[in-house]
Amino acid sequence: MSQVNHLTVLGSGVLGGQIAWHSAFKGKNVVVYDISEEALARCRAAQEHYAAIYLKPEIGASEADVESTRQRLTFTTDLARAVAQADLVIEAVPEIPDVKTSVYRQMAPLLPAHAVVATNSSTFLPSDFAAATGRPDKFCALHYANYIWSANVVEIMPHAATARATLETVTQFAIETGMVPIPVGTEHNGYVINTWFPALLSAAQSLVTNGIATPEDVDRTFLIANRGARMGPFGMMDIVGMKTTYDVSTYWGHVRGDAQMLANAQYIKTHLMDKGRTGMLAGKGYYDYPNPAFEAADFLAVPPLSQLSDIVDRCIPKA
Ligand SMILES: NC(=O)c1ccc[n+]([C@@H]2O[C@H](COP(=O)([O-])OP(=O)(O)OC[C@H]3O[C@@H](n4cnc5c(N)ncnc54)[C@H](O)[C@@H]3O)[C@@H](O)[C@H]2O)c1
Repeated sequence: MSQVNHLTVLGSGVLGGQIAWHSAFKGKNVVVYDISEEALARCRAAQEHYAAIYLKPEIGASEADVESTRQRLTFTTDLARAVAQADLVIEAVPEIPDVKTSVYRQMAPLLPAHAVVATNSSTFLPSDFAAATGRPDKFCALHYANYIWSANVVEIMPHAATARATLETVTQFAIETGMVPIPVGTEHNGYVINTWFPALLSAAQSLVTNGIATPEDVDRTFLIANRGARMGPFGMMDIVGMKTTYDVSTYWGHVRGDAQMLANAQYIKTHLMDKGRTGMLAGKGYYDYPNPAFEAADFLAVPPLSQLSDIVDRCIPKA
């Protein structure tokens, strides 16, 4: 028997919105909580984008499936209402420790006794927040990957005091919602996926921050060297969203004393976020959507000789 019929998702941004939509599609009743009506409105708009994706043949949802998904979703800015019936709460608020801690503290007295809580944090450990939840035995990490309908892995990572029953609950939930669980038995910042993924994005961003290559050329190189991949690092960054990329680079740049990460964060803020280029969901990031340049037929083609002079110009160091 399912142990999770009522899911609450805290934070209705890029990942919270996907987790909510996908879990509702798989039959769960989902309450989405955020701090502002504007954020919830953005989430609702994003969900219509997800509906269109689920209607495509790869997923093959029917109009009726999509309508029932919508019916299973509710949205609120009232935390007490959001968690009143929760069997499982998945936290997907910004990757900023103080924000996460404060949400957990606020929520602790409002939760039903049986509720399990999981963090979707990309880079922090469950032990960083276990005390704030007020229920360390019922708390672990449940980490999704962006585009969860196709990247359907979920990493499950406990901390020392997580109860086995909690891991059973979240693993069952993962399987019921069509996810492949990846057990990460030892607490590790970044799990499996974020041990290499932010490192890839950071290396790519450093090339652009330092003026060594254009985003298009980084992606072109990646896509030719990895034929069959759907996008390169800057396409991926647009999907992650600039806010989370910025938060991760800023936090870990300070913690590690890494000047390049901080320079990358500053570049992202100045060249993208401040210009409203916050990522794919906003319709523009490094690329413009819905038809990003990297999907154009000639993006990976051998260039015509008419481009020779332009290419050579770009080979010559700037004065
Ligand atoms: N973006 C990704 O690709 C990705 C992938 C896996 C995990 N994650 C993780 O998921 C979490 C959320 O990331 P995101 O990219 O969805 O961020 P986001 O910036 O897109 O969304 C965060 C949402 O949280 C809301 N919020 C802010 N303060 C809040 C509060 N006190 N209570 C409730 N909501 C609040 C914001 O209004 C926003 O809607 C982070 O921990 C991130 O590391 C992100």
